[in-house]
Amino acid sequence: MTRKKVLVTGGAGFIGGNFVQYMVNRYPNFDIYNLDLLTYAGDLTKHKNIESKDNYHFMKVNIADHHAIIPLFEQEKFDFVVHFAAESHVDRSISDPGVFVRANVLGTQVLLDAARAVGVTKFVHVSTDEVYGELDFDPDTFFTEETPLQPNSPYSASKASSDLLVRAYYETYGLPVNITRCSNNYGPYHFPEKLIPLTISRVLNDEKVPVYGDGRNIRDWLHVLDHCSAIDLVLHDGEIGEVYNVGGHNERTNLEVVKTIINTLGKSENLIEFVKDRLGHDKRYAIDPTKLELLGWKPTYTFETGIADTIEWYLENKEWWEQIISGEYQGYFAKQYSL
Ligand code: NAD
Ligand code: TYD
Repeated sequence: MTRKKVLVTGGAGFIGGNFVQYMVNRYPNFDIYNLDLLTYAGDLTKHKNIESKDNYHFMKVNIADHHAIIPLFEQEKFDFVVHFAAESHVDRSISDPGVFVRANVLGTQVLLDAARAVGVTKFVHVSTDEVYGELDFDPDTFFTEETPLQPNSPYSASKASSDLLVRAYYETYGLPVNITRCSNNYGPYHFPEKLIPLTISRVLNDEKVPVYGDGRNIRDWLHVLDHCSAIDLVLHDGEIGEVYNVGGHNERTNLEVVKTIINTLGKSENLIEFVKDRLGHDKRYAIDPTKLELLGWKPTYTFETGIADTIEWYLENKEWWEQIISGEYQGYFAKQYSL
């Protein structure tokens, strides 16, 4: 039997990187191709442990470069595509929306064309709950797959646009697709510009933690490995053409998250510094994951177990995040936080 080829785009990033590890180890009979441009958010040191494995392959390519992508698909004839590659940080999208349109919208369209040209078995598009816009603070309201798309940031607008293209390629050409829309992830190899790793790294260095506005905005946190198992399930068992929301009912205010990290590390809450609010800051995200649960998915982490493991990981892997925050990140941080 020929081995199945799985193309993972964005596999040098946070979630894609965890997914590549998950797939390489779980499916020795699948060939896993990690395709990534290695932007500021991509790094391959996280794959040192698998780079010599026979079923792991890496390619440095821009998904928006159709001169590279189309011939690559024609040559490799991938069976499955799991598409993570994207610009992913809301604050960067507010400063520079154009990069997000090129990577997230045009990049997805090029991949869809390539997938269509070779007739892949399935294309899983990894999206976000942020495409639904925001919820108010009523704890009984949730995003379902039927919630209208009302993105508020350039990032979520670019992701919603890519979701609509994926849907259109299913409706128009019958491309076999699924879309997953997950809540906020956290866990190992999370780039320290995002709230949780930013807080852990700064608290460990006794530096102030910037909290936007009054800190009452709510996010629904999911451990990255629970996201990986959800995507694996959708890849294998998702009904063609369907959207699946992914989330584990772990709503926390930003202030709760920051205080949990500070208290776990035994530091002072005086490290919290309230700063100017993010423009268009979405109030609350919360996922109803019933449809995915009916497919058989169950998360394994609670927020408490997941955040404890994650803090432990950042303590044990200082060299990984220290090399990031000592580089060009410093310029980003100074500009973003007006220091
Ligand atoms: P990330 O920023 O950590 O990683 C993105 C990766 O994509 C990087 O390795 C980067 O080099 C690569 N990339 C960017 N532009 C590229 C291009 N033009 N061509 C090839 N590679 C390119 O992002 P993440 O947090 O791991 O998110 C991955 C996906 O999951 C994104 O599509 C994001 O929208 C989605 N998502 C993220 C979250 C979250 O909480 N982080 C939640 C739900 C969905
Ligand atoms: P983030 O990790 O950027 O994810 P997203 O914007 O995709 O939800 O932010 C999570 C929440 O934390 C969001 O409400 C913004 C807030 N936040 C801060 O308060 N301070 C910060 O320095 C950052 C990066 C985020």
